[in-house]
Amino acid sequence: MDRRGKVAGRNHRRRQVPMSRYAEFYRRSIETPEAFWTEESRLIDWHTPPQQILDAGKPPFANWFVGGRTNLCHNAVDRHLATRGDQPALIFVSTETGTEKTFSFKELHVEVQRMAASFIALGVGRGDRVLIYMPMVPEAAFAMLACARIGAIHCVVFGGFASVSLASRIDDATPKLIVSADAGSRGGKVLPYKPLLDEAIRISRHKPASVLLTDRGLAPMDLVEGRDHLAAPLLEAHRDAQVPCTWLDAADISYTIYTSGTTGKPKGVQRDTGGYAVALAASMKHIFDGRAGETYFSTSDIGWVVGHSYIVYGPLIAGMATLMYEGLPTQGLDGQPDGGIWWRLVEKYKVTVMFSAPTAVRVLRKQDPALLKKYDLSSLRALFLAGEPLDEPTGRWIAEGLGVPVIDNYWQTESGWPILTVANGVEATPSKFGSPGIPMYGFNVKILHESTGEELTGAHEKGVVVIEGPTPPGFMQTIWRDDERFVNTYWKTVPGKLVYSTFDWGIRDEDGYFYILGRTDDVINVAGHRLGTREIEECVSGHAGVAEVAVVGVADALKGQVAMAFVVPKDGAALADAAAAQKLEGDIMKRVADQLGALARPSRVRFVGALPKTRSGKLLRRAIQAVCEQRDPGDLTTMDDPAALQQVRQVLAS
Ligand code: PRX
Repeated sequence: MDRRGKVAGRNHRRRQVPMSRYAEFYRRSIETPEAFWTEESRLIDWHTPPQQILDAGKPPFANWFVGGRTNLCHNAVDRHLATRGDQPALIFVSTETGTEKTFSFKELHVEVQRMAASFIALGVGRGDRVLIYMPMVPEAAFAMLACARIGAIHCVVFGGFASVSLASRIDDATPKLIVSADAGSRGGKVLPYKPLLDEAIRISRHKPASVLLTDRGLAPMDLVEGRDHLAAPLLEAHRDAQVPCTWLDAADISYTIYTSGTTGKPKGVQRDTGGYAVALAASMKHIFDGRAGETYFSTSDIGWVVGHSYIVYGPLIAGMATLMYEGLPTQGLDGQPDGGIWWRLVEKYKVTVMFSAPTAVRVLRKQDPALLKKYDLSSLRALFLAGEPLDEPTGRWIAEGLGVPVIDNYWQTESGWPILTVANGVEATPSKFGSPGIPMYGFNVKILHESTGEELTGAHEKGVVVIEGPTPPGFMQTIWRDDERFVNTYWKTVPGKLVYSTFDWGIRDEDGYFYILGRTDDVINVAGHRLGTREIEECVSGHAGVAEVAVVGVADALKGQVAMAFVVPKDGAALADAAAAQKLEGDIMKRVADQLGALARPSRVRFVGALPKTRSGKLLRRAIQAVCEQRDPGDLTTMDDPAALQQVRQVLAS
């Protein structure tokens, strides 16, 4: 039988071929999820064990471990005090500030309690939201764990986001407290956060009662009387604080994290407590094969889901030390260029499991390949890559250079942990270049025809990748404060079927390995970061000189994709005069960088007299994108004005 449990070929029909270990593991997770997850639930500590493993009575909502009470911070920190209190828990390395510091589990316990006590002093309680807008510093992890400890809901917003993006998240999350810092730093360039935060609070409707600020000494801060508090004195006032973990219901919200979709309004992906803890503990064992006492190094950022699951919670729950890194992959602790810094850290901290993104590897590929041989990397068992398609040359280069398995894994902010990969902790399974792998236990992954919704079971049939409910533990519960949007956005895209759409195209080969072929919606992926083109369009169209705009993602050798904007200017000068066009392009780029952050800034802004649209007025983004990538734009029969696409071709050629 093959991985999907199907008879593989005629010759095998009569013979009883034993299922592979993983195939059996997977089958149990889908056919008897309650029995399967009962076993997995034993990987974490419960204050009160669950009474019911799964309540799927109100599809598509899946409520895991009903009646169980636990705490993420207890499982990540307190649980390890007796057995490994003096072992490293959090290793912080910043090549931006030249800092290197290790916190043992005992020290982490102290820091988290100080932070939790400070939060309580600022009036934060169970269920209150705490928005965390922080660079990659230990205080950010302390703040997340402190929230988990007292049952507050954290909403981490990526530190690179500018004030308009931040304000929309403040309004949606309505936090009582915002935790921030004076500044972040990237490549030696200081990015002051406080002015961005002040501006965001000025334009948001909701005003937080308090702001807690870590002063890194990087940028001056103006404190707002009565609202702003410096972290150091408050933490000092609570230096010996003992704050017990609040036992939370499994379904209590641990956090929300914002992600982009089809509309300009970001979605607050909401996650539970018990299901998430179990899902992470299980993934650390079965997928990442990370063991207590070892070191895990994820190069992501706490602002992304990978940072939540595999910088903060996953490794710590597994009793591993987590290496938190601030800086570029090409800069040493002395601030000088060093393309071997990550390998130096792997050697020094005996990293066994590493997690990064293809885009980072593409950056490293430009460095001297000898750097990969310079360090003793014998501790490393595997490198996991996720967030965007892993192209074969990049995958091969790093696999050959490191001499360890490079494991592609496909998932989403919504899923919280890998949907497709290989579970080497269950059974050694080969990876295939170009494929993130096979469905992970708990995920009933199917490929459906885009318009008929019919299931495509044949090899290499292209369709939309969907997940049939009930979704496994750790999967998003809903969209924060908007169950209806959750159901309508994700579960109602296929006529007549209640299935979760990943909004990704995919195919499956004859061995059951999946291949991801890009998004079905208007989401683009820049250097592994997910951005909604609508959000960028809304920002661009706010510029007084812009009549209309289309933003598309265009293939880029380094970043995977970059945003490109096509603008119909209000006055014709930008079309006729190169200097006017250049000025408007610069203004628009600055506007996007200022409002949304540098990641979203279009690589180019091109000016056209009209945008290609369907007769019903829908922008033909996919056709524009195809032209930008020199591909066939496909069926254009519904196009209103073919000359508009011709103009796109012309400006690209000019
Ligand atoms: O399009 C897929 C792509 O990134 C999207 C999810 O992005 P995000 O919510 O930021 O979560 C990232 C968590 C790792 C997916 O819908 N994507 C993610 N991983 C892969 C991928 N595309 C191809 N291969 C992958 N391994």
